[in-house]
Amino acid sequence: MSYQQEYQTSIEQPERFWQQQADKIHWFRKPRTLLQKDDHGIDRWFVDGELNTAYLALDQHVLAGRGDDIALIYDSPVTGNKKQYSFSELTEAVALFAGVLLNQGVEKGDRVIIYMPMVPEAAIAMLACARIGAVHSVVFGGFAAHELAVRIDDAEPKVVVSASCGIEIDRVIPYKPILDEAISLAQAKPSGCVILQREQHPCELTAGRDVDWQQALAAAQPADCVAVRATDPLYVLYTSGTTGKPKGVVRDNGGHAVAMHYSMELVYDMHPGDVFWAASDVGWVVGHSYIVYAPLIRGCTTVFYEGKPVRTPDAGAFWRVCEEYKVKGIFAAPTAFRAIRKEDPQCQLARQYDLSALKTVFMAGERLDPPTYDWVDQHIQRPIVDHWWQTETGWAIAGNHMGLEPATPKAGSVTRPSPGYHVQILDSRGQLAAAGEQGSIAIKLPLPPGCLPTIWRNHERFEAGYLNTYPGYYVTGDGGMLDEDGYLFVLGRTDDIINVAGHRLSTGEMEEVVAGHDAVAECAVIGQSSDLKGEEPLGLVLLKDGVDIDEEQLKQELVQRVRDNIGAVASFKNAVVVQRLPKTRSGKILRKVLRNIANNEEYSTPSTIDDPACLQEIEQALKEKGVS
Ligand code: COA
Ligand code: AMP
Repeated sequence: MSYQQEYQTSIEQPERFWQQQADKIHWFRKPRTLLQKDDHGIDRWFVDGELNTAYLALDQHVLAGRGDDIALIYDSPVTGNKKQYSFSELTEAVALFAGVLLNQGVEKGDRVIIYMPMVPEAAIAMLACARIGAVHSVVFGGFAAHELAVRIDDAEPKVVVSASCGIEIDRVIPYKPILDEAISLAQAKPSGCVILQREQHPCELTAGRDVDWQQALAAAQPADCVAVRATDPLYVLYTSGTTGKPKGVVRDNGGHAVAMHYSMELVYDMHPGDVFWAASDVGWVVGHSYIVYAPLIRGCTTVFYEGKPVRTPDAGAFWRVCEEYKVKGIFAAPTAFRAIRKEDPQCQLARQYDLSALKTVFMAGERLDPPTYDWVDQHIQRPIVDHWWQTETGWAIAGNHMGLEPATPKAGSVTRPSPGYHVQILDSRGQLAAAGEQGSIAIKLPLPPGCLPTIWRNHERFEAGYLNTYPGYYVTGDGGMLDEDGYLFVLGRTDDIINVAGHRLSTGEMEEVVAGHDAVAECAVIGQSSDLKGEEPLGLVLLKDGVDIDEEQLKQELVQRVRDNIGAVASFKNAVVVQRLPKTRSGKILRKVLRNIANNEEYSTPSTIDDPACLQEIEQALKEKGVS
């Protein structure tokens, strides 16, 4: 079928279209009602269907005679370990860990927080939750105790699954102290923790609360898959919003399974037995969708990589993994390729490996800048697919659909909307923008299966943040345009979210932490362009009257505060003291113009500004400090 036909059908007859996709997965009870509004008036897919996501990812392949095929390849240059799990082995491991969770008193609908490094046990824990209908919430290992505590309080998990440590290149990061501190900070105390001891840094267990992973397995019986409703939540994944409090994106079971299966073929052209490698982390949505669920549901082999693109041990790591496991599709953030380019500008190391199995390079998570595109194109000589999506949608809103009808790419464009996503550009009045005109990228409702139906225990935030701005539309938070050929260009966030090394972070959250310093009266944190990480945060700080503090010392203290409160992953490394911050007459900080100044971009003085002279002062201060 052509892209045009497939897209048209998905928009004009969504129920018929998605029924056909739903028919391709195994249901315990097939859905008869395809689309129905819930009590909040939100469109829900496959409402009377019943299924089990872990069954789709594992058991069904074993039952189909593929038990000996490889499901998951663990490759860990940071520990020197490699291990492969067949579908049978992974199914057994998941069933047994599901038994551990049952022994811990976890029931259908209970939440389980998973705070783990990139070890296969993280995927085992996720799939074990899915098996018994528990709701997992994976927290990225780079987040500090406070961030973990916030998530514990919001999700109220019965159990936390963690490991004794993570490894960052050659540095051991002990997880247990972070976990202990988070639990002591949190109001909602989990009743138990299951801890995976790693030989690089075993930890002491807390008596009465913690159990050792291996010992817990020895005491457990394998548990069966339970049937859950399509609309039951599979997981909650916290992501940055514009305020300090992260939002829990809810993913349901039915829509997600259908979307994962469909997108694996549509976008990535992956078929049972193919090897797919998403070089991300299970703590991000890419890890949920394309390290764990989609490849396994589609019967592919997934690569689970505990390492970095560089320094583990060198900038040839990506190519080594592609050769060793005959990777057909690799998916990473552009930052990863920028890091490789920095260390191996001529891409010499790639020539040492046989990349003949590699068909396509997929990138997402941040804007794909033309120099990075050109470099990968020149040296790897494979189709490069830039696709655009977000935690909320769980799969590509737009991309070049390798499994359908690849289009000729256009520089700077994420190509075309995916079937199911009625993408439109709206101007500030909510009117349709003309072709080539910039505006807010919105999706006309209903959203396709797999997208979030709500924010965990905060439906108002879902409506206020995404649905109320333009009734009948989901607002993505990104600005952009559609050209005359229907190609989509994503031009950046319209809110205060920044993208640092493909990690989505809230400047509002960093501002709260910086403003909490005793010397700070007020601050603005903005994203500044970075050759490696795309963007990096920069703090502009106004001191309290009468405070006398060395600026370098203040900077160090602020950097440490952000590390302690949010985590190293925020990459907050720079802060500058300014005399004033530009504001509107009603007192709102003009962050956009600050961004322009810090990035040496042209700007026009906003008409709402209280005192235009302030802008020159800031320009001067940043220049003097060598920041812009
Ligand atoms: N646990 C603990 N700490 C972590 C961590 C984890 N899982 N992940 C990152 N960190 C720490 C890093 O060690 C670093 O600490 P430091 O400031 O003490 O050096 C800090 O968080 C920033 O990490 P990062 O942004 O990853 O920078 P880096 O300099 O270590 O590495 C890249 C740069 C480009 C190699 C790396 O960012 C990368 O591989 N990016 C790929 C992007 C990606 O996977 N995106 C996911 C969405 S698709
Ligand atoms: P996350 O929810 O962490 O996946 O981050 C989603 C945000 O990252 C999007 O809203 C975009 O701002 C940005 N993003 C993701 N993919 C792309 C892309 N291919 N091009 C430009 N921006 C992207």
